[in-house]
Amino acid sequence: MRSPGLLAAALVAAALLLAAGAGAATEEAYVTLLYGDEFVLGVRVLGKSLRDTGTRRDMVVLVSDGVSEYSRKLLQADGWIVNRITLLANPNQVRPKRFWGVYTKLKIFNMTSYKKVVYLDADTIVVKSIEDLFKCGKFCGNLKHSERMNSGVMVVEPSETLFNDMIDKVGRLPSYTGGDQGFLNSYYPDFPNSRVYEPDSPLTPEPETQRLSTLYNADVGLYMLANKWMVDEKELRVIHYTLGPLKPWDWFTAWLVKPVETWQDIRQKLEESLPGTGGGRNPHDQLVVKILFILPFCLLLFGYYQSCFQTNKELISIRSLCAFARRARHKYKSEEPLPSYSVVGSSAAFGISNQRVSPLLQLQISIST
Ligand SMILES: *[C@@H]1O[C@H](CO)[C@@H](O)[C@H](O)[C@H]1NC(C)=O
Repeated sequence: MRSPGLLAAALVAAALLLAAGAGAATEEAYVTLLYGDEFVLGVRVLGKSLRDTGTRRDMVVLVSDGVSEYSRKLLQADGWIVNRITLLANPNQVRPKRFWGVYTKLKIFNMTSYKKVVYLDADTIVVKSIEDLFKCGKFCGNLKHSERMNSGVMVVEPSETLFNDMIDKVGRLPSYTGGDQGFLNSYYPDFPNSRVYEPDSPLTPEPETQRLSTLYNADVGLYMLANKWMVDEKELRVIHYTLGPLKPWDWFTAWLVKPVETWQDIRQKLEESLPGTGGGRNPHDQLVVKILFILPFCLLLFGYYQSCFQTNKELISIRSLCAFARRARHKYKSEEPLPSYSVVGSSAAFGISNQRVSPLLQLQISIST
């Protein structure tokens, strides 16, 4: 009766393996949001920066319909868990259509398969481990513009009840931005009075909201004010590239804002460390670079042909030179008379058609034979 025993052991082992596999998904995750292909490179660099801090937690990117399949595969290859979502309609219809979907960020409050999520905007990078953020309470965010909460970096405890309550109030509460950030400021009106989160001394009872220090959401706008970080640079955790329309993946921003170099350094590492991902390059950018590279050559070639066809004389003189050379050779080798054929163009230009070949032409002829 050994085989049933072995079978049972094998089954138990298989079950254990399965359980381990299922447990591979972490209870806490980093989350970002991608509305279109424009920010794909941003998400890739963010992912790389996160992995460089040594985290083993899930990295989830919520992608909307505007994101291409190519980009989704790219992100998957980078180690992101790609979750497709539909945009959450903007109830404040006074805003133009491009603001549609700005409430979609609220969906992170509905990610109930995780106990806690750290949300990061696609234009952020992590320069030092932020694992301690998972110890933050129910809702943590940064205070910017003196008394407003910035939704670029947030710690959220997903809850369907909370999410449904938010959705219920989305149409009623005002939003100064017309989007999620303004709404969250109305939803948590007391946020400016929150205590600053200190990972080493947790508060009891756990407060509803807590503020994160600037180190967790350091705005490059802040850097630009004094041309340096006004916080301890060694302690910097998250850099947020809020430059309005300028983004770190625009090639010229590194000249304008020094911290973009940090972003570019990570982008460059992307190429080496992530196989099968197109080397971290944006295919669109690559095409533009190729076109810009080839364009001068095309123009040069075009100009050359243009000039050739315009001044036919040049072509003709080359042809007549050849004919002349051929005739001259025949004449020189065999003293026989050449079959008479007319030379295209003005052989008379040479003025020596019936004379002995000059030493220079002789040399040319000997080279060509
Ligand atoms: C919120 O999450 C629940 C459970 O996963 C899901 O059934 C529901 O569709 C989600 N709501 C929205 C608006 O995404």
